[in-house]
Amino acid sequence: MKHLLSIEALDQADIEGILSASVTVKQQRGHHPRQPLAGQAWALIFAKSSTRTRVSFEVGIRELGGGSLFLSANDIQLGRGEPIKDTARVLGRMVHGAVIRTYGQTDVEEFAAYSGIPTINALTDEEHPCQILADLFTFQEKRGPIRGRIVTFLGDGACNVANSLAFAASRLDFELRIAAPAAYQPSPDLLRRAGGKVYCTEDIRAAATGADLLYTDVWVSMGKEAEAQARIDQLAPYQLNDALVQLAKPDALVMHCLPAYRGKEIDADTFEAHAQTIFDQAENRLHVQKAILECLADSASLGSGAVGAKQCAG
Ligand code: CP
Ligand code: NVA
Repeated sequence: MKHLLSIEALDQADIEGILSASVTVKQQRGHHPRQPLAGQAWALIFAKSSTRTRVSFEVGIRELGGGSLFLSANDIQLGRGEPIKDTARVLGRMVHGAVIRTYGQTDVEEFAAYSGIPTINALTDEEHPCQILADLFTFQEKRGPIRGRIVTFLGDGACNVANSLAFAASRLDFELRIAAPAAYQPSPDLLRRAGGKVYCTEDIRAAATGADLLYTDVWVSMGKEAEAQARIDQLAPYQLNDALVQLAKPDALVMHCLPAYRGKEIDADTFEAHAQTIFDQAENRLHVQKAILECLADSASLGSGAVGAKQCAG
């Protein structure tokens, strides 16, 4: 594995390899036997806001022996129109890896192709792979394998988090129910690419019934601010609240990738009742991303076209 660009690009063995490495990384926090990023500098290029992703990558890189440079896209020439492929070719000669949060999925892919250094998608409009890997890890930590389980996603079913969940469903063989208004359901193209057991419905009660995991995300993703009021109005019936939790399995988990807007996608009482899981999810971003960084570290030699990626799969 040279890059982590999407869940779509991973297979079952890749995901299971990362989840299994994450168990060890979490157990060894504070006493790592090795520092795989020693002597390395990683660039964090962010065109959108972040708390969890930024902090977990900065801390994770440091704990693995490396250093990070936070580059707000607006503060570098990228923000003034320098092409991604030129930025990538410059950074590829100076840093050992890159973590990118931006709008277009193709921008992250282009950066990876031109830089020659390991590149991690830290959220695009299309996918949020690090989030979903941490969520899968959190489920597994609390409930065991997710294979054969029922996951219900409520709200904006066409957002990056829902998309990455859809790709994960076929890779790890769980059922994903997406409860969303028709206009906020994944596109037929995405459903075709995802494959597996992904079902879309406008019936939130049917979707929640018997679920092992209820999951939601903000209704107004970054970049969609101009549609905020329309989204809030149209998604209002899809709030994750106690009435839905009551329909799920008695030990169902409730997850939220955060930040949360209480009274919108989740009600305040449900959020607080499940805060332990939700903040474990947030913490697990650190452990899982350290496992990803370890996995990519061996490809992180300077200069374009680095080869010799360590295989995390298996
Ligand atoms: N869940 C998540 O990615 O949070 P941030 O936007 O704070 O990084
Ligand atoms: N779907 C949200 C996720 C935030 C972590 C967004 O893109 O803003």
